[in-house]
Amino acid sequence: MTSDTSTTPLANRGMPSGRCPFDPSAEYEQLREHEPIVRVRAPAGFDVWLVTRYEDARVVLGDGESFSNVDASSSHLMGDKDDLGGTPPPGVLLRYDGDEHARLRLRLAREFMVKRIAKLEPFVREVVTSHIDQLAEQSGPVDLYRAFGLPVPALVIGEILGVAEEDREEFERATAAQVDLSIPLEERQAAAAASAGFFAGLVRSKFENPGDDLLSRLILEPSESPVTFEELVGLSILLLAAGHDTTANMITLGTHALLQHPDQAAKLQDEHVMDTAVDEMIRYLSIVHNGVLRKAVRDVTVNGQQIRAGEHVAVVLESANRDTDFLPDADQLELERRSAHVGFGYGAHQCLGQHLARLELRIALPELFRRVKGLRVVTPEGEIPFKDDMLVYGIRELMVEWDEVVA
Ligand code: HEM
Repeated sequence: MTSDTSTTPLANRGMPSGRCPFDPSAEYEQLREHEPIVRVRAPAGFDVWLVTRYEDARVVLGDGESFSNVDASSSHLMGDKDDLGGTPPPGVLLRYDGDEHARLRLRLAREFMVKRIAKLEPFVREVVTSHIDQLAEQSGPVDLYRAFGLPVPALVIGEILGVAEEDREEFERATAAQVDLSIPLEERQAAAAASAGFFAGLVRSKFENPGDDLLSRLILEPSESPVTFEELVGLSILLLAAGHDTTANMITLGTHALLQHPDQAAKLQDEHVMDTAVDEMIRYLSIVHNGVLRKAVRDVTVNGQQIRAGEHVAVVLESANRDTDFLPDADQLELERRSAHVGFGYGAHQCLGQHLARLELRIALPELFRRVKGLRVVTPEGEIPFKDDMLVYGIRELMVEWDEVVA
């Protein structure tokens, strides 16, 4: 598969599409088998090397010397390819490399380590409990995404950032609009601008009146290289964007998957199973599904394929996580199994919020299934609006009903 031509030929095909509904497109199995690193045209109109095998995914994501994160927004999918190669916004650590990335990542790592996240458990429980109590007060079909999936992580991230309760609806709206590909680009850009304005106000208020929250601690902490106002704004936007809709989609899509796998759902009340269940669901559902983007900064060969400096690579996590060379029966959901999946990414940029996501899901899913008896989806399967067109996969609306809600 080695290429020695001086220019890489243009791609003559697009990225696979058609996820159904928990499984990646069947094309990925073929690609893993026959063309594990293949040139395709991304929807935004530029070419990327698509990496579909688990081992290759780890090689690319683990090699920060050869692959840069400068373009690691999902611009290739969003259609705003003009942003490629541009200067990353301050504070958006996902798009920084090396020392610049490490500087912010290390400061934040303390906030997101297991011990500190564990302290949020009572708050997460309270939020989950109150939202299930609210379900109990309603009759008739309810949209689980809006009633439970979205508000739980929104309130938790709001608590971490120190967002006042009355302002939370505003930032929820702005974030949802930014990642919804069905909304025209100009409206998404307007939503992004509104969100930036909101967070600038929030950060200003923390400089003026610091409290017990992540932003205030970053401001107050003595450091030779203090985090700037602009970085704090960018960081807040990134944390909300990365931590809100992802977890909301995992709650909603995860509930649907569990309802379709009642044998697995029955295991949720077993504490031991919960040690592995959330990660297995992250692997199986792989909601960051369209490929995380990197740019080669030098010529490099991966699994025999030469990738030239300046070319882009999209690592398809949903395909890597279903690679049977990595995990036998990878297409099955088995909550008791443990694996080194890449659903949270891999390498220096591996998900910063993974312990938080685990905590939220570990509480939300078993509590929902324990308390809401006879939970069922009312929308016929063929009419469920899956978010194929969004950066993060999920369900736009999941109408459910139930028999009773117990204490
Ligand atoms: C189930 C939920 C989640 C999933 C599946 C997920 C997945 C991911 C993935 C795949 C990456 C790597 C992207 C890349 O390499 O280009 C990532 C990075 C990141 N995630 Fe998450 N995430 C989740 C929840 C969260 C939460 C709750 C937060 C924080 C509140 C968060 C914050 C971040 C940040 C800040 C990064 C960038 C880290 C860096 O560049 O060093 N994520 N996430």
